Formats: sequence, structure tokens, C-alpha cells
Amino acid sequence: MKPKIGIVGAGNVGASVAHISLMRNLGDIYLLDLYADLAKGKAIDLNQSKFLLGSDCAVEGGGDYAKIAGCDYVVVTAGLARKPGMSRDDLLFANFDIIKGVANELKKSKKNPIVIVVSNPLDVMAYTMQKVTGFPKERVIGMAGVLDTYRFLHFIQGATGAAADNMQSMILGSHGDTMVPLLSHTFVNGEALDAIMPAADAAALADKAANGGAEIVALLKTGSAYYAPAASVVKMLESIIQDKKTVIPCSVSADGNYGINGIYVGLPAVLGKNGVEKIAQLKISAAETEKLKKSASAIKEQIDKIESRF
Ligand code: 2OP
Repeated sequence: MKPKIGIVGAGNVGASVAHISLMRNLGDIYLLDLYADLAKGKAIDLNQSKFLLGSDCAVEGGGDYAKIAGCDYVVVTAGLARKPGMSRDDLLFANFDIIKGVANELKKSKKNPIVIVVSNPLDVMAYTMQKVTGFPKERVIGMAGVLDTYRFLHFIQGATGAAADNMQSMILGSHGDTMVPLLSHTFVNGEALDAIMPAADAAALADKAANGGAEIVALLKTGSAYYAPAASVVKMLESIIQDKKTVIPCSVSADGNYGINGIYVGLPAVLGKNGVEKIAQLKISAAETEKLKKSASAIKEQIDKIESRF
């Protein structure tokens, strides 16, 4: 039996997750949207591409949450995207209500699904999803650190010309203005990034990564990025479905890790068939630890604003 992947929200991110998952033959897909015909139409189009893509997975679309209840994996992309000039945090109240509604539907699941949340503000929405569904914390995960990290690698390659396989980095903390690029874990051809260029230039590349989403929002004007976010979701799905146990930075429930407790925040997680199988404890600098704590406080402030609305 093929794994069943449910995708809530048939907008650009949801449809792109379906498209890449189909190309990778990850499983049969149900694409759901409030606008059922939009999901149906996109599913028909995707299905008609499957032989061309060499896939034998099927895509179905519609507005039926009963189909999502039979899925092993659920990707939640529902919610508003920011407009130019907005921060991800500006979406807090509108997307809280939407994610709470989706979570109440997911509670009816007949499986023990692993849920990947993509909606913003990411860390608070992942927290909301776990709290409303009551699903085990290791089975509710937010997508973000992987996207921020690969954006950083893209900018590092632009500056150094290094081959993709010869760059490593990791961005932790919130998927927001306080994200924490780990220069202590950023290497180009085995050398530390801030050793091969002035520290200020390395920091400027990290800033470009942190502003990578906003740069795209400003250009698109009517929505936010979707190709790289969708590819990031699929990287997580692949590690989970194929039990690869890859260490991927993503938003997870912190239980004392890095001195953080009781919130969702971007940390390096080993993703396997059980979801988050371990949170890796990296050796990071004192300054990075401090920044991570500040980032966690910024997430906590956002959580405090919605805590009375559950
Ligand atoms: C981004 O960074 C959508 O938050 C997502 O592009």
C-alpha cells in the first residue's frame, strides 16, 4: 500500500508540494481546499502529468475532510500569505483562527498522522496545531529552518562559487525576524565561512537569507514564495516516509533543549518514520545560544497573544 499524503490548501504551496511529491513518487495524494473545485481542477491537471513524470501515484482533489482522515501524512498550507511590507507575525490572528479550524478537523483522523505545518507565523501555528489536535508532539512539525538554511546556502554559493555538496549550514530559531543563522556550523569546502571572508560579509549573507522570503513577497506583490517552501516540505516528507533519519532544522516542540521549554522553535531534528526522533544538541557559541533564547522569547510573546483564544 502506498503512503497517503493529505495536503490542506490547494494554493501555490499546496499544489507545488503535490507536484514535487508526485515527481518523487512519494505516495497517493489528496489535495483539499475550501474551494473544492480549485482542488479538483488542480488534481485532474496533476494526474494528467503523472505518466509524463514517471509516477504511478494518484492525485485526488476536493473539499472532503473525511479523505484527509485516512491520510498517514498531512501537510497544512492553509491560511493567508503576507503582503509586501508585512512581517509574518502580522498574520497571527487571522491564521490562528484558520489553523484552529483545520486542527479541529484533523482531530477526526483515523490514522495517527504526522502533520507538517507551513502556515505563518510558523512556530506559533505549529504550536497551535499540536495544542488543538492533542497529537503527540513528535508528530506535529513546522517547516521553516530547512527553507531558511537552503536560502542561506544559495547566497553563500553566489558569493563563493562553492559546489552545492561542499556547503553546510543550519539556521535555527524562529521562522521570523529573529532567526539564528549558525556561523559556527557554516562551512564552505570544510572551512568556516567567517574564516574565508570578513565576518561582516558572512553576517550580510545571513541577513540576506533572513530577508529571503520578504524579498520575494515584495516582488510578487500578491503572495509569497512557494517553489522553495514546497521543496523544503518534500525534503522533510522524504526523510519521514523513507525513514532516512536526516537531521533537518525544523520547528519542533522544545522540552528543555537549548534551555528552551514549552514552545515550538526551529531546532535540528532527526526526522524518521516516527516524526521527530531526536533533537540534536549541537555545540554552538555563547552568542548563538543567547540569540536563540531571544528568538524563543519572541515566539513566546506571540503565543501569549493567542493563548486566551484556544
Ligand atoms: C517564506 O519564507 C512562505 O514563510 C515562507 O517564504
